[in-house]
Amino acid sequence: MRGGGERWLQGTFDRHARTVGNGPGYATIVGSGKHAPTLHWVRCDGPVAEDDLLLLDMGVETRSHYTADVTRTFPAGGTFSPVQRQVHDLVERAHRAGLAAVGPGRPFTDFHHASMEVIARGLHDWGLLPVSVDEALGDRGQHHRRYLICGIGHHLGLDVHDCARSTYEAYHGRTMAPGMVLTVEPGLYFHAHDLTVPPELRGIGARIEDDVLVTADGSDVLSGALPLDAPGLERWMRTPQSS
Ligand code: GLY
Ligand code: MN
Ligand code: MN
Repeated sequence: MRGGGERWLQGTFDRHARTVGNGPGYATIVGSGKHAPTLHWVRCDGPVAEDDLLLLDMGVETRSHYTADVTRTFPAGGTFSPVQRQVHDLVERAHRAGLAAVGPGRPFTDFHHASMEVIARGLHDWGLLPVSVDEALGDRGQHHRRYLICGIGHHLGLDVHDCARSTYEAYHGRTMAPGMVLTVEPGLYFHAHDLTVPPELRGIGARIEDDVLVTADGSDVLSGALPLDAPGLERWMRTPQSS
């Protein structure tokens, strides 16, 4: 292990956020290895080993008080192992499907269902679902949700989970409209102790999260400067970054 572990990374981002904006927009999440599958690992008291997947969910609250909420999952040593890559590739496919389903006039939940369908199909292909994809996607199924226990996204604004106390009609039950900003954030979370998955998947967690503005004719990914795919993330890690 090199560096100071999860907490050092958390502190490094928090100092950056405090320098360029008001501060972190929410408790910065740094989950390495077996901590990555914990949805919001903010304790951050673990080491970062070279062969870990490192889940970083971070956002700067700007001086105008609006916050970002962005996640990328990196191989700490710079290269995804084959099984880490397999998980990340499926999350990436779900993410792209979710992004493609954001647009004005569409039901707010469209991107959630688009991503979930990709996740369910992928898990079914890996033999992890005890039922058909159709059954899993039905109201009485949802077996894939064992490995993705949250929704695919939320409104974003002054609060990281903006307008979370809105009525169903004003939030999940309405359509997307230009000017709305929301997150798309599918993930897969295989806990280290989960005996329902093969040993090689245990302890792997990955999420991709972008912030998306609904525009008059589609959407704009506000965090789109960051790579999405595994090769792009590996390249990004090899490229010196200016602060
Ligand atoms: N950072 C919390 C979330 O992604 O919703
Ligand atoms: Mn987040
Ligand atoms: Mn989020």
